[in-house]
Amino acid sequence: MADSGPKLRNSSPLAAEVDRRRTFAIISHPDAGKTTLTEKLLLFGGAINLAGQVKAKRDRRSTRSDWMSIEKERGISVVTSVMTFDYNGRVFNLLDTPGHEDFSEDTYRTLTAVDSAVMVIDAAKGIEARTRKLFEVCRLRDIPIITFINKMDRESRDPFEILDEIEKTLALDTTPMTWPIGMGRDFAGTYDVRRGDMRLMVEDSKDAPSQPLDLKMLAAKNPMLDADAIAEELSLIKEACKPFDFAAFREGHLTPVYFGSALKNFGVKDLLDALADFAPPPRPQASSTRTVEPEENNMSAFVFKIQANMDPNHRDRIAFARLVSGRLRRGMRAKLVRTGKPMTLSAPQFFFAQDRSIADEAFAGDVVGIPNHGTLRIGDTLTEGEDIKFLGVPMFAPEILRRVKLGDPMKAKKLKEALQQMAEEGVVQVFRPLDGAPAMVGVVGSLQLDVLKVRLKDEYGLEIGFDQPEFQLARWIACDDDKKLNDFVQANYSSCAEDLDGDKVFMARNQFILDYTGERAPGIVFTDIKDVK
Ligand code: G4P
Repeated sequence: MADSGPKLRNSSPLAAEVDRRRTFAIISHPDAGKTTLTEKLLLFGGAINLAGQVKAKRDRRSTRSDWMSIEKERGISVVTSVMTFDYNGRVFNLLDTPGHEDFSEDTYRTLTAVDSAVMVIDAAKGIEARTRKLFEVCRLRDIPIITFINKMDRESRDPFEILDEIEKTLALDTTPMTWPIGMGRDFAGTYDVRRGDMRLMVEDSKDAPSQPLDLKMLAAKNPMLDADAIAEELSLIKEACKPFDFAAFREGHLTPVYFGSALKNFGVKDLLDALADFAPPPRPQASSTRTVEPEENNMSAFVFKIQANMDPNHRDRIAFARLVSGRLRRGMRAKLVRTGKPMTLSAPQFFFAQDRSIADEAFAGDVVGIPNHGTLRIGDTLTEGEDIKFLGVPMFAPEILRRVKLGDPMKAKKLKEALQQMAEEGVVQVFRPLDGAPAMVGVVGSLQLDVLKVRLKDEYGLEIGFDQPEFQLARWIACDDDKKLNDFVQANYSSCAEDLDGDKVFMARNQFILDYTGERAPGIVFTDIKDVK
């Protein structure tokens, strides 16, 4: 095992800066209130100017063509990709996980760059499909999750039922930290389970103060509230619910649950306080040779997202890199480990809520944007010289497969190059069938196909269309025994392809064929996730 490098004592300025960082994402199903909550977190966190910009993002969900044009307006999407704000002495980096139509593999990969997540659930709907998927990605790394049950000002489901659903469908223990008093039009506020006091909803107030629990007073104000029934419910919580177990939370096995209404500003401060108090600082990261600690002196980072066309005239790309260790200084030279070549980080960009600006320095846990012209790929590692490769930037099996149809067949070579570049940037995945059939592209969100089409036209002058192939599913295949894998590939030649890394993929017309083939191929492992090489 290699030396883990020089470390600073915990009291060093570097360690103190790293320790202040809290890098997180919000996971939710569309319409649960992520945008509203993001806006409120930023407002409460003091990044006041942002409200309008988050709104701009919300408005852009209208149509896909809008998305493309807005995306090209320099700035907007980057500004909303990483939002940094200070609260209670902590530096929060909120990484955007696009939802709606712009849902893509980036959404999943962004979760590999955070240390914790806030799960927003619509109180009337409970756990929905997208939440479950995003949760599964968090679970791969046991990311600690704080839950916010939103829209309590509307008719909602029974809170016990929602907790039960979280426990059963996600296999995640829950501890209610607050408990709603009333709901819908009668939602009065929340009871703080640990402190035993209450906070009442005050219209448009940012900071509802805590006050002693007084159900009689509440019932006198609102005859729809039954003081005795509420008192019984509150005593039941203490008996029925598990106490908050910090270690279990940090291990990703238990989620503290808060109730509120993002729209009415209620519960947002509880959530911010929970993030400040419980969310973990930057974590150590596994690499090909050793685990890298965040407070190590030497800078290291990995690229988890690439955003193109920030400026259509310059074909510039911004690679989003999460700093794993040390301090990044503007102008420093870093090594791109994949190629072994040095790279000067002359204009790393740091994202403040209002704008992006050149970063003079950034610390482990932060995310910086590195402008480049296609040098950086998804999954790349940058270091100050050490030859390590960070693990855990994943590719996910596509949910949509399409065959690329080229307008001008004479441009096949150019298409091949273009697809290679697009795959390296993570726009789409490319699968090349072994039998020589035209390449197939795979995505998890259909917007990725639109982006591919527009970019191939704008940047390469290629007109393409898509055909529905005979295959619907793709899985990576592996086996301890090379011969066995080879035999499988030969026997299923016309259903096998290679991905960008040369890894073998089995494609199936449907789930039945996938299962059937799997059952008849003992020893062959079919996976729907793999690390980027
Ligand atoms: P998303 O990013 O998760 O997709 O959700 P978003 O915040 O855009 O919220 C979806 C809808 O739910 C919005 O209404 C928003 O105002 C509403 N909403 C969010 N939080 C709450 C809440 O705590 N209580 C209530 N009652 N509503 C909430 P919309 O009509 O679709 O959009 P808009 O016209 O209000 O912007």
